Amino acid sequence: MNFSIKRHRRLRYNPLVRDMVRETVLTKNDLIYPLFVVPGEKIKNPVKSMPGVFQMSIDTLVEECKEVVSLGIPAVILFGIPSAKDEVGSDAYNDNGIIQQSIRAIKKEVKNLVVITDVCLCEYTSHGHCGVLSGEEILNDETLKLLVKEAVSHAKAGADIIAPSDMMDGRVTAIREGLDENGFYKIPILSYAAKYASGYYGPFRDAAESTPAFGDRRSHQMDIGNVNEALREVETDIEEGADMVMVKPAGPYLDIITKVKEIFGLPTAAYQVSGEYAMIKAAGMNNWIDEERVMIESLVSIKRAGADMILTYFAKDVAKYLNRTSK
Ligand code: PBG
Ligand code: ZN
Repeated sequence: MNFSIKRHRRLRYNPLVRDMVRETVLTKNDLIYPLFVVPGEKIKNPVKSMPGVFQMSIDTLVEECKEVVSLGIPAVILFGIPSAKDEVGSDAYNDNGIIQQSIRAIKKEVKNLVVITDVCLCEYTSHGHCGVLSGEEILNDETLKLLVKEAVSHAKAGADIIAPSDMMDGRVTAIREGLDENGFYKIPILSYAAKYASGYYGPFRDAAESTPAFGDRRSHQMDIGNVNEALREVETDIEEGADMVMVKPAGPYLDIITKVKEIFGLPTAAYQVSGEYAMIKAAGMNNWIDEERVMIESLVSIKRAGADMILTYFAKDVAKYLNRTSK
């Protein structure tokens, strides 16, 4: 009966002991809540493919942010749908654009909330691509100039953290220089460093109205099979001045999260994207899975893999769950 020396179950019988030895625990500080802003007033449009997620006008957004703070969530990330789109995404870097107005409104009325802004052009261009086009090609260096203007404009409006999601080469250096030249040397950059060309972004493109008019994003987002390339992307962004890095999507790319955290050790964010959310919601609404349990499991897995922060549409649900269950 030698096996009795190693009885792993000894630590599993008593729920209190299980709580004591748990290695990975989700906390509210891990959460970043994505929000979608649209022009207008008193608007709260449900996003069909993302139950529980809404496009909101600025007044509704401000109320939402107050609730987010009261639940104990430290941060939101904003995505804007402008009233008009054009070839060069002008509203993205308009000081009176939808995001700039949103930041100012939140900063005026809500205390103790970190406002992160997503910097890309795809929500603002008529063609839905992440940069300036020449024919069907996205021009890298021309796009950088506009991304810098967008980032600086967000910072001027009061953004706390700038998160470029475009995947153009050289954007972190360009944005860092632009921010510093304008006196925003204290504003951190959270770069979407390893962002894959993923099928899981489908529902987001409904929410942000940013589906490309032709083609796809494979000329700038990463190929799903690549690991070493993700590490090169992260390394480059860090050299260029990123303060924090992101892996996206999260659940299907846990191996990437683990490597990025182990190799670079920077604060690492992971984005549980719209498709990951939609699948759990859909199965939960059909009672095919226990939604709350799988929600927590999906997020604990992302944290266990090495993420310090998780962008998730479940943030409010998780905060409510933690407020209800934690001692
Ligand atoms: C913008 C952007 C996208 C997401 C975050 N920022 C969409 C895309 O690349 O098409 C996706 C987030 C999600 O699916 O929840 N570039
Ligand atoms: Zn984009």
